[in-house]
Amino acid sequence: MKKITIAVDGFSSNGKSTMARGLAKSIGYIYIDSGAMYRAVTLYCIQNNIIDEQEIDINKLEASINNIKIDFKINNTTGLPETYLNGINVEKEIRSMKVSGKVSIVSAIGFVRKRMVKLQQEMGEAKGVVMDGRDIGTVVFPNAELKIFVTATPEIRAQRRLDEMRAKGDNNITFDEVLKNLVERDTLDQNRKEGPLRQAEDAIVLDNTYMTQEEQMEWLLQKYKDVINK
Ligand code: DC
Repeated sequence: MKKITIAVDGFSSNGKSTMARGLAKSIGYIYIDSGAMYRAVTLYCIQNNIIDEQEIDINKLEASINNIKIDFKINNTTGLPETYLNGINVEKEIRSMKVSGKVSIVSAIGFVRKRMVKLQQEMGEAKGVVMDGRDIGTVVFPNAELKIFVTATPEIRAQRRLDEMRAKGDNNITFDEVLKNLVERDTLDQNRKEGPLRQAEDAIVLDNTYMTQEEQMEWLLQKYKDVINK
């Protein structure tokens, strides 16, 4: 069967990673979480004192960018891909608020995006991938055969994110803090110069505010079949 490239873009915490991962699993494609890559670079900056509360040392980051190695490996127990930064599993750390609070700054830097886009294009070279992010359908794979743009209200997204964090045992954060971080990130993601979050002209919009995960998966599988059978 022919293999295609599937781009899933949209605002943060709208369930697109869960959808993209589920779709990849059910059709035997590779799933790549491009946000995890920007999160891993941000963690690297925190660990190496490149970023602090006030500022980011752009020169130091530029000098180190080629030393940042990011891989995904499947966890044999869960069957899900996990993020590795220079050989170390950082899947949990990259989801912390410490990283979430800084990732928009790091992901707005041109040379960081250039490097990540190149790595993402290499990972998707052979097709048969579902990649989710902000600029996948516009910059990384402008020729993707299927492009989905996911939206949902900020409140629903904040609640989903909070539930996810609580499920992981993170009880130190309130709904209002999550909502504030999410709205700030939306604004930064949409307004940055390099690879801003925007809907590709040929993307299909999915507003999943009032949809269950099962309904979304059914919708997505149908879109995939429509392209494959065309
Ligand atoms: O999908 P996420 O929330 O894990 O993404 C983390 C951050 O990375 C988010 O603030 C936007 C940024 N990002 C990006 O700029 N480009 C992408 N392709 C994916 C994520």
